[in-house]
Amino acid sequence: MSAMKVIVIGKGGREHAIVRALKESSSAPEVYAWPGSDAIGQLAQRVEGISAVPELLNFIQKEEIHLCVAGEESYLMQGLADACEASGIACWGPKRQGALLEGSKEFAKEFMDRHGVPTGTYDSVSDAQAARDAISSYPCVLKFDGLAAGKGVAVCPDEATAEAFLKEVFDDERFGSGKLLVEEYLEGPEVSIFAMVADGDYQILCPARDYKRLGDGDEGPNTGGMGAVASPQLLEPALLQRIEEEIVRPTVSGLEKDGNRYRGFLYFGLMLTDDGPKVIEYNCRFGDPECQAVMPLIEGDLAGYLLKAASGVLDRTYFSFQDLWSVCLVLASAGYPASSRNGDVIRGLEEVQGARVYHAGTRQNAEGQFETAGGRVLAVVAQGATREEAVANAYAEGTKVDFDGAQRRSDIGVRNFT
Ligand code: AMP
Ligand code: GLY
Repeated sequence: MSAMKVIVIGKGGREHAIVRALKESSSAPEVYAWPGSDAIGQLAQRVEGISAVPELLNFIQKEEIHLCVAGEESYLMQGLADACEASGIACWGPKRQGALLEGSKEFAKEFMDRHGVPTGTYDSVSDAQAARDAISSYPCVLKFDGLAAGKGVAVCPDEATAEAFLKEVFDDERFGSGKLLVEEYLEGPEVSIFAMVADGDYQILCPARDYKRLGDGDEGPNTGGMGAVASPQLLEPALLQRIEEEIVRPTVSGLEKDGNRYRGFLYFGLMLTDDGPKVIEYNCRFGDPECQAVMPLIEGDLAGYLLKAASGVLDRTYFSFQDLWSVCLVLASAGYPASSRNGDVIRGLEEVQGARVYHAGTRQNAEGQFETAGGRVLAVVAQGATREEAVANAYAEGTKVDFDGAQRRSDIGVRNFT
């Protein structure tokens, strides 16, 4: 067979990391990206001039691309995997019915209740008064029941914050029309668990933790993620086993029982409460920025693995995780997350030697320099034998990169570890 061809769908830092891991696979595939970014275009062939999925599928067939890997959830909710299946194209990423685990919080809650997966209690409401009636104490958690690019969740310490969010949802319809979940507030450290899932089988990947708040000490507004840390050693084996038995296994067998055949990454956002691990959310794709921390730990043939996995077989001989720690530092642009500033030239990229730099929101200007083009701009990712070493390496390399107004945390990989 000539070289395998694979296309990655998406344009952010996560997709940059997936593209690079595929390129570094021992099977050395040819990699395409849609829509991609200028930085991704340095590694992969960007597919240009295509604006919608049907045209994309024509391109995939014409170029005889063997595998489509979904990075972003939005295309999956639009039915990317269903359309691939109808066209006979292998796709890594679930069909719409599976993507609903992320796309509808109510669907996910009903699924968890049906299959005995531990999660917070909740009420589903359709108007602000019903929401007020359902709130029994503070803090409470309000979640819009649909895709909201990570902005549809409010952890409300008091009535004033709850009222402000209810106004956004029901009066301003900031996320469009839809229901709202009033959810029990869960306390504890968070952890992100990822699994490859295919037809009732699963393989748990290297666990990770992300840092969602803008500021040090987990202060400030929620963001898309200001950093992440990953390692096979992140969780005690007994805890990982408990998560597998109580959460991952019943989820995967629940999908099969429901006739919801799932092939793709499945992300479990967990809260490690005093009562045991509980699911905060499912996502039907890899985490961002956790993916940027996890991918450099992979050794082997991720591309070959995913091609086989997309046909329903998880073959564990294809790759393994290096037993290291990996730390990902995000640099965000001025004003983020309320706004973001574009066009600041990024300095020092060529100085980085001992880390990988993944681009989330950059573009190349007329002189060929990379400049900011989005809220989260880039991630600097480094490894080490210990967590402390990985943190030191990531910060030593990260300080070489800068741009006007850059925002970054100084406690990634440190905070939330005792
Ligand atoms: P999500 O978009 O569902 O990941 O929620 C964003 C963040 O809100 C999570 O990472 C948690 O920090 C927080 N969160 C969501 N649900 C809960 C909950 N039930 N209790 C406490 N915090 C929550
Ligand atoms: N790291 C959070 C997310 O990808 O949703």
